[in-house]
Amino acid sequence: MSTVIERTKAYVGAAHNRVDGLRKAQGQATYSAEYPLEGLTYGVLVDATIASGVVRAIEGSAARAVRGVIGILTHENAPRLQPIEAPPAGERLMPFQDAQVHYHGQHLALVIADTLEAATYAASLVSVTYDESAVIARLDDHLDAQYDPGSMFGEACDETIGDPVEALRTADVTIDRRYTTSLQHHNPMEPSSTTAHWDGERLIVYDATQWISGVQILIAQQLEIPKENIRVVSEFLGGGFGCKGWVWPHVIITVMAAKVFDRPVKTTLSRRQMYTSHGYRSGSFQRVQLGARRDGTLRAIMHEGIVQTSVFDDRPDMVTVATRSHYRCPNMTTTNHVVKVNQITPTPMRAPNENAGNFGLECALDELAEALDLDPIELRLRNYAERHPTSGLAFSSKRLRACYDLGAEKFGWDRRGRRPRSVTEGHLRIGTGFASVVNFSMVQPATVRAVVFADGSARIESGSQDIGTGTYTILTQIAADELGIDPARIEVRIGDTNLPPAGGSFGSSTVASVGSAVRVTCRNLRAKIAERAARGASLAGAVAASGESSIELTSAYEPDELDAETKSFGAVFAEVSVDEELGTIRARRIVGAYDAGCVINPKTARSQLIGGIIWGIGMALHERTEVDPRTGRYTNANIAEYLIPVHADIGEIEANFVESEDYAFNPVGAKGIGELPVIGVAAAISNAVYNAVGVRLRELPLRFHEPL
Ligand code: MOS
Repeated sequence: MSTVIERTKAYVGAAHNRVDGLRKAQGQATYSAEYPLEGLTYGVLVDATIASGVVRAIEGSAARAVRGVIGILTHENAPRLQPIEAPPAGERLMPFQDAQVHYHGQHLALVIADTLEAATYAASLVSVTYDESAVIARLDDHLDAQYDPGSMFGEACDETIGDPVEALRTADVTIDRRYTTSLQHHNPMEPSSTTAHWDGERLIVYDATQWISGVQILIAQQLEIPKENIRVVSEFLGGGFGCKGWVWPHVIITVMAAKVFDRPVKTTLSRRQMYTSHGYRSGSFQRVQLGARRDGTLRAIMHEGIVQTSVFDDRPDMVTVATRSHYRCPNMTTTNHVVKVNQITPTPMRAPNENAGNFGLECALDELAEALDLDPIELRLRNYAERHPTSGLAFSSKRLRACYDLGAEKFGWDRRGRRPRSVTEGHLRIGTGFASVVNFSMVQPATVRAVVFADGSARIESGSQDIGTGTYTILTQIAADELGIDPARIEVRIGDTNLPPAGGSFGSSTVASVGSAVRVTCRNLRAKIAERAARGASLAGAVAASGESSIELTSAYEPDELDAETKSFGAVFAEVSVDEELGTIRARRIVGAYDAGCVINPKTARSQLIGGIIWGIGMALHERTEVDPRTGRYTNANIAEYLIPVHADIGEIEANFVESEDYAFNPVGAKGIGELPVIGVAAAISNAVYNAVGVRLRELPLRFHEPL
């Protein structure tokens, strides 16, 4: 029999099935667009069809004449909004405040009707006339307009240590290459959807969001109403990947419309609108210069990155920032510059900073290894950073060497054909490639309420959210061990701002943050109950003996100030086949090995790794949002023409964890899994393509533009 003094260790680390799996499979999990409200009306957005200019007129009489139409919200009748910083705002531009148009797809009107069909038809009848002005359509054509935006989240965009120019000049071997990554969109299965319902001064919002309290903060500040009057609910999310992390204009537009027309309003974005209503991953132009001694010791790294931003925001994707953390090198310059274009502001997308920059750095390292005639892993080992290269701080934990070893063994790296073009299989050329991975690890404060009932059940509550990764499940596991209660008897409630506050589900930080809060709170609750109990009594018995129906505790987890760098790591190995006649590339096999700290649930964690690696295959071989160079319009804004890897594109994937724990970082010892596995895949595949055919492809997605 379990005692109140002891926790069990049965559930954390076990491959527990998803606690919400059955509900999801049976269609009983309620997503944000699925709340049936009395008198619900439907909003359909009318978007700009130019990328720069001024609206002359919005002609809505034909739309208003459609049966069932309730009204049209535009800049002419929308409430005035107070400015708010980003984040939580996705962009600085506030909707419906003036007649300016800054990008194609910018929302100009919301048509409200009592059916979705009427709203959709009426929206098609709204006619907008413009005075157009010159368009800055594409990053590609305006690289000269780059500037240094200063800093992002306290991190300088440009940073130099030592004297890399001099070190490059005196290096034995140098590499100077340019790499390009493509503009990408998130494409979650579930489109964004907001339902707003005012009850007098009180507002309830069902929103497809990774950050319910961010939505609450944004609405409170933009409309100048008390936060307490706003309840935001997001029980289940059909993927976010960053596009639902911050709050985009359709949310406040829907809230305003519900107020102006005094009806509950639901606005769900169309698939096409999922390309222009929130940010994306900017394409990047990178230059990597490396200088090394003959023995492979790095003397200089210069990594320059240029990405795009909107005409009204400065925020960059810091594509070279991870370079600062990767290799021991005394002379280093990393820059992150932006170019303003007439597109919506970019936003985080799966390892926003680290992913794109890894492609440039890790391909360049491969080119350097070849120039030195060194094994690519050996080159990394000769430059292994025991301390953080630019800050000089220790890492809270680092098992990157173990990742190299485990990955190489699982992949069979020592059996590879080292020389390019040395392995064939029928008419196919086979190649192998490697990339090293570093990612940031973050943690946020979180508050949890834990309740143990006299019948032996328990409830865990926190204003976090499950974006599909398995948050309900891992919180259940952590609570089960701390309380010594069977997971089947624990209910986890998240996704509601009425619950104790937690942060956003982004930055791969939910396990470390909310998981730690669950662990700490349950531990304290166990101690509180133990004080009242006889030795050997069960937790439920102690509650029952207290004469109360339940005993509860609410407590906050505040991350420690650490004098260390917190990073996660990985090693990615790729095997590709290239058909030289057709110029086609297939990712036949990817093996990853990761240091992500403690793994709470190997089953959901593996699912994250596999999913991330597939994203990497998409980045390497398929994904690219095409921008019309004349109009700034996306020409493939749909999932038929925006290529995503399908089953036939995905070969064998093997994802491994090295043993790792980081209790210095947080009480559950986790470092984050969601974003880590996308990183490195594109570089490993590109390096493998070179090994297969002896041609370097430095632009994503990888394509042969000339016959081989
Ligand atoms: Mo993520 S890009 O932090 O959802």
